[in-house]
Amino acid sequence: MKPCVAQTIYDSFSLENKVAIVTGAGNGIGKATAKMLAGFGAKVVACDIEEESLAETVAEIMTDGFTAMAIPCDITNRDQVISLVERTKTVYGTVHILVNNGATMGGGKPVNEVNEKEFDRLIDINLKGVYQFIYAVLPLMRNQRYGKIISVSSVAAIAGDMTDIHYAAAKGGVISMSKTLAKELAQEKINVNVVAPGLINTRMMHEWEIEPALERFHRIGEPEDVAATICFLASDASGYFSGQVLSPNGGEYML
Ligand SMILES: NC(=O)c1ccc[n+]([C@@H]2O[C@H](COP(=O)([O-])OP(=O)(O)OC[C@H]3O[C@@H](n4cnc5c(N)ncnc54)[C@H](O)[C@@H]3O)[C@@H](O)[C@H]2O)c1
Repeated sequence: MKPCVAQTIYDSFSLENKVAIVTGAGNGIGKATAKMLAGFGAKVVACDIEEESLAETVAEIMTDGFTAMAIPCDITNRDQVISLVERTKTVYGTVHILVNNGATMGGGKPVNEVNEKEFDRLIDINLKGVYQFIYAVLPLMRNQRYGKIISVSSVAAIAGDMTDIHYAAAKGGVISMSKTLAKELAQEKINVNVVAPGLINTRMMHEWEIEPALERFHRIGEPEDVAATICFLASDASGYFSGQVLSPNGGEYML
C-alpha cells in the first residue's frame, strides 16, 4: 500500500476534535467504550445513573491524559437528558457521536414471572432511553450535517433467548428504530448503526449461560471487543455504513 493511502485510512479512524456522549459509561462495555473513544482523540461526556463508578471512569480517562467529563443522568428522564446535552454544548460546543449503551438486565425470568411494572421499567430504560438521547442530540447533528449514532442491542434481539421477553423486545426495538432512523437521516449525513454483542465479560453476563458461546469460540468476549466495534462505527472509516447491525459474538450467532 502506498504510504499516503495508508495514512488516509489511518486518519479516517481518528476521533480528534470529535465530541462523544456515552451512556452507561460507569461499567462494562460503556466504560471500555468511553476510554477507547477518548484514546482515539474524542472529548467524552460520560453518563451513568451510578455516580461513583462514573467518576472512576472519568478519572481513569483523565489519568491517561485524555479528555472527559462526567454527567450523572438517568436516561429515562427527558429533563436530565436534555440538560446533559445542553451542558455538553456549553462545554464542548456540540455532539458528533452518541453511543446509546446504558441498559438494565431482565433478571432471567420466564414470561409469567415478568410483571407489568418490570416490563414497563425495562422498556423505559433499554428502549425509550435510547429514543430520549436521539431526540435530544438530533437538532445539533442536523444543524452541522454530521453525526454518528451507535446503539447497543444484543444477540438476544436477533436469535431470541430462553427468558426475558422484555429484554429481547427492547433490544429488537433498538434495531428497528435505528434502521428507520438511518433511512430518515441518510440525506443529512447522519449514520445510525447498531452493535449487537454476544456474551461479553461484564457483570451483566452472569445472567446468561456461557456454554453456547464457548462451544462456538475459544473465549468469551471482552468489553474492549465491543468498544472497538463502536469506535469503528464512530469514525469516518465506517462512513458508508448506516442502518447496519454489527455483532461481535465470536461466531455464536451469524447474521
Ligand atoms: N454483557 C453482555 O453479555 C451483553 C450482551 C449483549 C448486549 N449487552 C448490552 O451491552 C450494554 C452494556 O452492558 P454491560 O454488559 O456493560 O452491563 P453493565 O451493567 O456493566 O453496564 C450497564 C450500565 O448502564 C447503566 N444504567 C442502567 N440503567 C441506567 C439508567 N436508567 N440511566 C443511566 N445509566 C443506566 C448502569 O449503571 C451500568 O453502568 C447494554 O446495552 C447491554 O444490554 C451486554
